[in-house]
Amino acid sequence: PDGTSSTPLLTVSQYACKRRTTTVNNNKILTDALEVLAESYEFKEIPGRCLAFRRASSVLKSLPWAVRCLRDTEGLPCLGEHSKAVMEEILQSGHSFEVEKTLSDEKYQTLKLFTSVFGVGPKTAEKWYRGGLRSFSDVLAAPGIHLNRMQQSGFLHYGDISRAVSKAEARALGNLIDEAVRAVTPDAVLALTGGFRRYRGKEFGHDVDFIVTTREPGKEEKLLTGIIERLKQQVSTLFGLLLYCEYNASTFDMVKLPSHQFEAMDHFAKCFLIVRLEGGRVEGGLHGAEGDGRGWRAVRVDLVSPPMDRYAFALLGWTGSRQFERDLRRFARAERRMLLDNHTLYDKTKKEFLAATTEKDIFAHLGLEYIEPWQRNA
Ligand code: CTP
Ligand code: MN
Ligand code: MN
Ligand code: MN
Repeated sequence: PDGTSSTPLLTVSQYACKRRTTTVNNNKILTDALEVLAESYEFKEIPGRCLAFRRASSVLKSLPWAVRCLRDTEGLPCLGEHSKAVMEEILQSGHSFEVEKTLSDEKYQTLKLFTSVFGVGPKTAEKWYRGGLRSFSDVLAAPGIHLNRMQQSGFLHYGDISRAVSKAEARALGNLIDEAVRAVTPDAVLALTGGFRRYRGKEFGHDVDFIVTTREPGKEEKLLTGIIERLKQQVSTLFGLLLYCEYNASTFDMVKLPSHQFEAMDHFAKCFLIVRLEGGRVEGGLHGAEGDGRGWRAVRVDLVSPPMDRYAFALLGWTGSRQFERDLRRFARAERRMLLDNHTLYDKTKKEFLAATTEKDIFAHLGLEYIEPWQRNA
């Protein structure tokens, strides 16, 4: 190497599960721009284009160097003409006309705002937009708009749950959940998953995700309802700890083959919570309408409870990132004739389910090099 070229010496795979992606992003200006376009196509319900921009962004995130000109990207996968044109514009002039136009588009801005509320997805946001609503006060004042319980909590705790959760807060929550788990069953298994399992350098996440199970077969669902009961009873300074709780019972059925849908929800018992965390002050103080003069904050918490023999699949599936998961499944299907989801791995050639007790077992079945959780930030 003569040191004059910044192009990669090793080939970069089209699959995120064959790349190592930490939270250090050397191409943030480019990936932020591509993700704006991905999101706008998601709102427009054009999934193909959305995915193309997400894949392009994900490839750039994995690079240990900064792209300085389009020539640097020669040989990189997943960079289509559209993505390249956007990148070229940014590299030359500092911004992209299409991205700026999207960011100032009223519909994009409104859907972005509405979907930032817990419980409001693209469908509801679109419906409100078509009804002429443009702001939260429009929504809250509109006659005939019914907010479900989740959306009501989403508006009530909007300031807190749209504010990042720090590592210290995640740790405090871990202790709180751990205490509830121990009180229900001493032999329970509790593990941090989701973003906080992937972040090393990064300090913040948007919620805290846990897997909880027990070695006693069939007891995992009781365990989860037990934990919820325990948290409901726990009272801190006159207030309950649980500000919101949606429990989904298990619909898990071992006979089913893995789903072909990438984004399909898994069938394990799970709950989506908003928890009151005492002393949750972060540096810089509390922001938002709820913030002032309190010693607590609301935090979003997800708990999922698979049976112990599904633990490795659930852990791998819930650790993310979403792009990493999508590509694991795509790789399994396209390169190995296998079907992977949060419950199982099925070999279509051998016509059999492959057992796994660790994530490493699953990577090995797929013939993939093991990728550490903090390298899965694709
Ligand atoms: N997930 C899933 N099924 C769900 C919800 C989540 O399989 N019903 C998986 C997703 O693959 C995701 C992970 O669980 O990667 C965690 O989801 P989420 O908390 O939304 O995202 P994070 O990756 O944790 O990022 P953040 O810090 O924003 O929470
Ligand atoms: Mn998360
Ligand atoms: Mn998220
Ligand atoms: Mn989550």
